[in-house]
Amino acid sequence: MADAGRQPIGVFDSGLGGLTVVRALTERLPSEKILYLGDTARVPYGSKSGETVVRYSRMSAHFLMGRDIKILMVACNTASAYALDALAADLAIPVLGAVEPGADEAVAATVRGEVGVIGTLGTVRSGSYPRAIAARDPRIRVAQLACPLLVPLVEEGWLGGAGDRLEDRAAAAIAERYLGELCAAAPNLDVLVLGCTHYPLVRALLARTAERLWDRPIALVDSAQAMARAADRILSQAGLLAGGAGGLSCFVTDDARFAEVAARFLGHPIATVEKVDL
Ligand code: DGL
Repeated sequence: MADAGRQPIGVFDSGLGGLTVVRALTERLPSEKILYLGDTARVPYGSKSGETVVRYSRMSAHFLMGRDIKILMVACNTASAYALDALAADLAIPVLGAVEPGADEAVAATVRGEVGVIGTLGTVRSGSYPRAIAARDPRIRVAQLACPLLVPLVEEGWLGGAGDRLEDRAAAAIAERYLGELCAAAPNLDVLVLGCTHYPLVRALLARTAERLWDRPIALVDSAQAMARAADRILSQAGLLAGGAGGLSCFVTDDARFAEVAARFLGHPIATVEKVDL
């Protein structure tokens, strides 16, 4: 057990969006070695059935388990929503998804007792965030909305900066369309969970749009940051934190258009990536 902390953390996602979780993780735990697997050959998961997402998730977990990881982090919100229970039952190491840490932070943050959740169609359909929030405090109302256009928007790098480029205006219009619908359904909410790997990149746009629509600041819960904090807690309680130099090894199931998109999510270029079959 003496060397247990030196084992890597395994992180998987449907594609490259989960690098937002890697980014949050390396900021918080810079000594950890991280193995990242992006199932880029089969992305997106957000529009697939729960059964398919569970099957794919098991294959990703199996790949990382073969590399002696100490904890499995399911960065993909859709995979967390559908497959976490199955993975936790399958594996003998801790399995951390996006939903529980996000629900914890949302419940702690709401003052009015009403929380919004945005994510993929699959995440919303699974009902996993409302279930997780109700398990913590059944009095809290939850309003959900699938925002499928935000994923391709972020992958294109249309992040809705404050400028007047057509790309920024298009992103702003899409954010306004989605959050406007949520605001009409839940005018009282004060917390919005960003329940998708891609949304941290449009956080500023969503915060700005939400504040204007609700006419007050809305607290945003970033599930990538929430996961990094939860991983820190779990590993330190288990005495499994690493010391020394950290690092990232990246595996993908398809490497077309890897470099540009990966750098966008991670915040810096990735030197090497290995293409693998699951
Ligand atoms: N990673 C997915 C999520 O967080 C978004 C992309 C996809 O649909 O696969 O739900």
